[in-house]
Amino acid sequence: MEPMQERPSDAPRPLILDVDTGIDDMVALLIAATAPELNLRGVTCVAGNVEIHHVARNTGKILQMVGRPDVPVSIGAAKPLQRRLRTAPETHGPTGTGFVELRGEDRKLGSTEFTPIPAARYLGAHVKRHPGEITILALGPLTNVAAATLNGVDFDGAREVIWMGGTLEERGNTTETGEWNACVDPEAAESCLRAGALGRMFPLDATQDVVFTMDDLRALPETHAARVVRDAIRFYVGFHRQAEGIEGCYLHDPVTLIGALLRPDLVTDAVRERLACDTGADPYVAGSLYRSTAADRPEVELAVAIDADGMKAELLSRLTAAVA
Ligand code: BDR
Ligand code: CA
Repeated sequence: MEPMQERPSDAPRPLILDVDTGIDDMVALLIAATAPELNLRGVTCVAGNVEIHHVARNTGKILQMVGRPDVPVSIGAAKPLQRRLRTAPETHGPTGTGFVELRGEDRKLGSTEFTPIPAARYLGAHVKRHPGEITILALGPLTNVAAATLNGVDFDGAREVIWMGGTLEERGNTTETGEWNACVDPEAAESCLRAGALGRMFPLDATQDVVFTMDDLRALPETHAARVVRDAIRFYVGFHRQAEGIEGCYLHDPVTLIGALLRPDLVTDAVRERLACDTGADPYVAGSLYRSTAADRPEVELAVAIDADGMKAELLSRLTAAVA
């Protein structure tokens, strides 16, 4: 028998992004679709920042904008596992991309391949078909990932599942102690934590270490894609001015992508915790994470501090390359 061929360690890393596009999801998509270190195998959509049809359309259009209409897009959960869907038009604009609306056809850009396989099955099929190979980066509510685990998918078969969500010590951005992705679908977050589906998390404690300003975006080239990004982020900055009192914005999702997969050296502190997510009826508490005392609950690694200057420089140079 022939010896098994070792996959060279610098081969692009196979990745599936799970998104609720969303302004910061958009930036993460642009970077992931163009990063030479990554092999973006597919993108799965989940309702969250906006309704699922906006998420799917935005995702397809953004991939087209950077010449990646070849990346399959799978449509997933239109609502959380048990709760009513809440969206965030005040944060991300009426269709998810701030002052921009990604509508209309441009034949030159090619058309997205929307796969008929729904997201939870899409994730499960990839993990099963390529044991130990696929990284899943979830940047929205965990509904698709949880639905897959509830359908029997074992994410031990993935190389890693990473989530942008939750907060430990940082004040919440949705309730006092709750972060948006966790608050939209607390049952999904709890089910993933209980099942040990998540290997790593990037909570607000990490993603809010870096503030991006409109000035930072001045260096982007004068292209259509760059104008879309600038107009979307201008809306996001306006929201942060009102809601957070900062002159700039947090780009949670691309900070997670870079910190987790492209420049892990920019994560300056991490902790391991056994976590649970509150799923009670009180809307002020549901979605908050707490430390679990259950010994059988798997630990998860949380990034809690980021090298802010390094991350800002890396994100801006990646984004500049993506929209050039
Ligand atoms: C998370 O919530 C969404 O608004 C963002 O896209 C990000 O994934 C931050 O709390
Ligand atoms: Ca998101």
